[in-house]
Amino acid sequence: MIDRLHHVGIVVHSADDALGFYRDIMGLEVAVDEVVEEQGVRGVLLPLGENEIELLEPVREGTGVARYLETRGQTLHHFCFSTDDIRTELARVRDLGVELIDQEPRYGLAGEIAFLHPRSMHGVLVELAQPRPDAHHSDAKGMDHVAVRVSDYDAAAERWNEVIGLEESNRIESESAQMVIGQFPVSRTIVELVTPSTPDAPLAQMIEEQREGAFPMVAIEVADLDTEIARYRAAGLDVPDGEAGVLPGTRRSTISAEQAFGIGIQLLEYV
Ligand code: CO
Repeated sequence: MIDRLHHVGIVVHSADDALGFYRDIMGLEVAVDEVVEEQGVRGVLLPLGENEIELLEPVREGTGVARYLETRGQTLHHFCFSTDDIRTELARVRDLGVELIDQEPRYGLAGEIAFLHPRSMHGVLVELAQPRPDAHHSDAKGMDHVAVRVSDYDAAAERWNEVIGLEESNRIESESAQMVIGQFPVSRTIVELVTPSTPDAPLAQMIEEQREGAFPMVAIEVADLDTEIARYRAAGLDVPDGEAGVLPGTRRSTISAEQAFGIGIQLLEYV
């Protein structure tokens, strides 16, 4: 079975530059920093509670990651979910008719890994990983949530349920944002499936232009939003004042994707 969101992968031009934010400003530690020659990438894993951020820097031309960076720029690349038995999971997922990029598990930064095709996952590139026995492990809360925009909510919910095993725990309609947010917990992180509530909602327009897929963001719970905002501002970042979040009982601010090397870092306080 799948037990948690292992990491969120981001493609970057320079891992060293990105570490200037994730390590030096955000304060995360580097657990793995390695060049995987056959993939043509330098990968860096930075634990964040029970999850990790994975930085992927292409080290040569012509690879999938290099082309991704060339066409889309620095942005979110994939979500990785962990399992204790990748062979069983991969066989199970194949039997569901999911299109696999890797027919067999292979060596990766996070352990034995395999990718599922985004065509089978409503636009999201999903990696499965069976972590190395000696890998970093924490049970602390890391990412509060990640989010995926979908046009056919029921079909997407069914897919995420049968492939990843996620179940809807809560559904929230935001009138102001004209969207419906379904919450699908996996360990201490929530995967949100977000769909427009009206045909002319801004999100409907976005899906029309960019199709279904993951939003390039992660939300992190902070104890005191204003303290965090002040801390990042002191480090030279441009961070807006806190405002009411989409979910009731939350306040938030966001470090932009431009400043965080491809994904927005939402700072979220439960009030
Ligand atoms: Co990965």
